[in-house]
Amino acid sequence: MKTKPKSVALAVSAALFLQTAQAATPDERASQAVAQMTMAEKIQTVFAYFSTDFKGVARPKEGVPQAAGFIYGVERLGIPHQQLTDAGIGVASQRGEKVRERTALPAGIATAATWNPALAYAGGAMIGKEARLSGHNVLLAGGVNLVREPRNGRNFEYGGEDPLLAGIMVGEQIRGIQSNHVISTLKHFAFNDQETGRNHHDTKIGEAAARMSDLLAFQIALERGDPGSVMCSYNRVRGDYACESDWLLNKVLKRDWGFKGYVMSDWGATHSTIPAALRGLDQQSGWPFDKSPYFKDALQEAVENGHVPEARLNDMVHRIVRTMAKHGLMEHPVQIEPEKIDFAAHAKISQADAEESIVLLKNDKGLLPLSGSDKRIAIIGGHADAGVLSGGGSAQVYPVGGLAVPNEGPTEFPGPIVYFPSSPMKSLAARSNAKFVYHDGKDAAAAAKLAADSDLAIVFANQWTAESVDQPDLSLPNGQDAVIAAVAKANPRTVVVLQTGSPVTMPWLASAGAVVEAWYPGTLGGEAIARVLTGEVDASGRLPMTFPASESQLPHPKVNGSDAPRDTRFLVDYDVEGAAVGYKWFDKRKQTPLFAFGHGLSYTSFAYTGLQAVAKDGSLVVTFTTQNSGKRDGKAVPQVYVAKPGGAWEAPKRLGGWDKLALKAGERRASSVTIDPRTLALFDAKSNKWKIAAGEYVVTLATAADAPVGTVKVRLPAREFAAGGR
Ligand code: BGC
Repeated sequence: MKTKPKSVALAVSAALFLQTAQAATPDERASQAVAQMTMAEKIQTVFAYFSTDFKGVARPKEGVPQAAGFIYGVERLGIPHQQLTDAGIGVASQRGEKVRERTALPAGIATAATWNPALAYAGGAMIGKEARLSGHNVLLAGGVNLVREPRNGRNFEYGGEDPLLAGIMVGEQIRGIQSNHVISTLKHFAFNDQETGRNHHDTKIGEAAARMSDLLAFQIALERGDPGSVMCSYNRVRGDYACESDWLLNKVLKRDWGFKGYVMSDWGATHSTIPAALRGLDQQSGWPFDKSPYFKDALQEAVENGHVPEARLNDMVHRIVRTMAKHGLMEHPVQIEPEKIDFAAHAKISQADAEESIVLLKNDKGLLPLSGSDKRIAIIGGHADAGVLSGGGSAQVYPVGGLAVPNEGPTEFPGPIVYFPSSPMKSLAARSNAKFVYHDGKDAAAAAKLAADSDLAIVFANQWTAESVDQPDLSLPNGQDAVIAAVAKANPRTVVVLQTGSPVTMPWLASAGAVVEAWYPGTLGGEAIARVLTGEVDASGRLPMTFPASESQLPHPKVNGSDAPRDTRFLVDYDVEGAAVGYKWFDKRKQTPLFAFGHGLSYTSFAYTGLQAVAKDGSLVVTFTTQNSGKRDGKAVPQVYVAKPGGAWEAPKRLGGWDKLALKAGERRASSVTIDPRTLALFDAKSNKWKIAAGEYVVTLATAADAPVGTVKVRLPAREFAAGGR
């Protein structure tokens, strides 16, 4: 048989690649592509640029400006460029002259606080749509690091402290993003649970504890969201850099969980060529952040000299091209056409998310919802006259219409502090006949005087958190505790609205009439806050993380490494708490937090009846009925906790499932919650299996980790399943 001359074969292959798209599987298409690629083309597929001028390295001209990453495509094979953007809450923009202005969802922690997977999906779908119209086809989203460290500066980007809640919520957001023919990451794999020394610290944790905590969150998010890529993190894990951890990447992710996508490094997290390639890294990201372009000439040389088998390079490329084919990146090319973005519709998606995320922490004096009879209302602090806060760092989304408060915060990364132009005060005023008077809250005495002269005071207290820096402690910054205390003393009818990315302590709690946690509420956050405060919508957020009463209650009373000399290696000993993260630690130590995981009040009341737990065909199904027993419409979040008496688990109980129900006044509805079997199991590192012990289990229906409403017992047979199963 005659073979075609090479040049003709090259010319037709791009067309063939696309033509066969319908018939061939992503794997077949990737194999065909890899078979036709030159060494140079393979190398260019696994090597990424930063799509912003940085450290004297110019962005490739084909890359979207002020974006996170760029990888050359192979035009002759129909493989497009990969255009990367951060996308945790929306299409981000790197700092610079002309930032992209896009819709921002509330922070990831806020979306987790909705306990409503449908909102997470809708928010993700919104981001994916805007990303496509911004010219991006690979989205850096899906942050699911657990809140082990409540002072972690990036908690706002993540899904809270519980692996089931975080995994499901973040997984749904990824699924939403990828419904747009774009790829999403899941990150930061793994144990990058603090920012202090993030490039240097080494996480110590036993295998079983790892699998039952942080890794379980990743595993669940992976199953739910099926992300095309996983981003390995900056830190070391059990001695090795995460991006060259054979255990994490090859064993846990690719072998046990059967991950067929590709692993990209975090920006500056690639530390070698040969170890990284052999131990599972598939693509070096943003190379100017690393010491060297490890996956360029050095990788080619390593392959040519046999230090890295060519089959391994082919595997890297196969994974990347397969993922692009699977998500339709070839058939659905992206274009920069922001004029097609429906900003008004997208803002409403963000607002719906924010409204369900707001947590009513305290409402003792029935101050909320606002009665409408107050004539003069003091609004104090937090720039509430201008806008709402957002968290800082690479996930920063810049608001349409510009910054509501210019020139705040650091001039360098992770600044500036960005406020979205949605003023809670203006939104409240639009719904009220009262006179609203604003005070910036910088002078406690003056703020207290205004409060004393008003019928009601609403203090907005802000905690700006950002990538690369942890909070020094759990206190609100900038003397805000003193201002709140003074205001609440002057007027007991004081409502405190928190915009924080993490839990804070509240030394003034006893004197405040009502407290609301609004997180960073996104593009229309002011509207969302106003609608919850006025009761136009119920307060239906529930805490996705414990609010400790003090630092002394934490497994690590001081942030690990906060005393370590800069840029030195130190150990972060997660064996202290093991898998007992958050409420599990508090339960185990019998500590009373300030507010428990799962806590959140409603403007109505709910009654729960008919709790039953039935073991059937290997799964545990819990059923019950919720009735809105109050006079207002509202949303309930009944939570199911499971426990195995005998103390073999890391903690007395675990969240096994939940429901979120919108119920009209008087309405009742049945729920059926299937318990994730891993929340009933222990991971056995020796056999590499999950094992459910035979015996009696206690199932508790609760409205928070510390608020049970009913308990039943159920006997389960012994059962075991593979590390990647359920
Ligand atoms: C962050 C990642 C981000 C990347 C690209 C890193 O500093 O840790 O979350 O996706 O930058 O901007």
